[in-house]
Amino acid sequence: MWNHQFGKTGNFERRAFTAAIIIGLAGMGIAFAAPHATLPAAKAEETRSVWDGVYTEEQAKRGEPLYYRSCSSCHGDKLQGDESTNSPALTGPDFISDWNGATLDKLFSKIRLTMPRDRPSQVPAQDKIEILAYILSMNKFPAGKPELEQGDGLKEIRFEAKPAKSAGSGD
Ligand code: HEC
Repeated sequence: MWNHQFGKTGNFERRAFTAAIIIGLAGMGIAFAAPHATLPAAKAEETRSVWDGVYTEEQAKRGEPLYYRSCSSCHGDKLQGDESTNSPALTGPDFISDWNGATLDKLFSKIRLTMPRDRPSQVPAQDKIEILAYILSMNKFPAGKPELEQGDGLKEIRFEAKPAKSAGSGD
């Protein structure tokens, strides 16, 4: 008798509990289904890319004669490369896809540490920065206000084949 009654009570409680869970789950279902609006809005892009005007026109002009002095003998007068010395082009689709997605720091390190290939230490790093500005200009990345500078800032500039869609300058 006692057992039986207890059993009944237990049953009742179990059912009530199950019902509570079902109601609870249904409620949560509504909560999950409803507000996509609570997701964070499209995140703001912090990093800059070569499309954001990361060198000045002046700087690219200074870089041009430096390029001719130290680089064109292998990479060509128009940065087109030279098969006879196995020197790749420094403009165009191959060059751009080689560096697409890398930071400018990587490209600058390549130049700073290994170029000119026959005498890398004989061209000052500051000249190489100006040359990099010239190379960017020859790849039709836009000039801007700040000069390109050596240092950690280069790690925050991405080399991108295409401008980010959010950039809004639809040219
Ligand atoms: C003596 C010939 C020679 C000279 C001078 C020279 N390079 Fe190079 N460069 C090469 C060769 C060969 C390669 C390909 C092998 C390699 O990546 O090391 C190359 C590769 C490069 C690359 C990598 C290209 C890519 O798509 O991966 C860059 C950037 C570059 N050179 C920039 C320069 C700059 C800037 C100068 C002038 C400061 C310069 N080079 C001078 C021979 C030269």
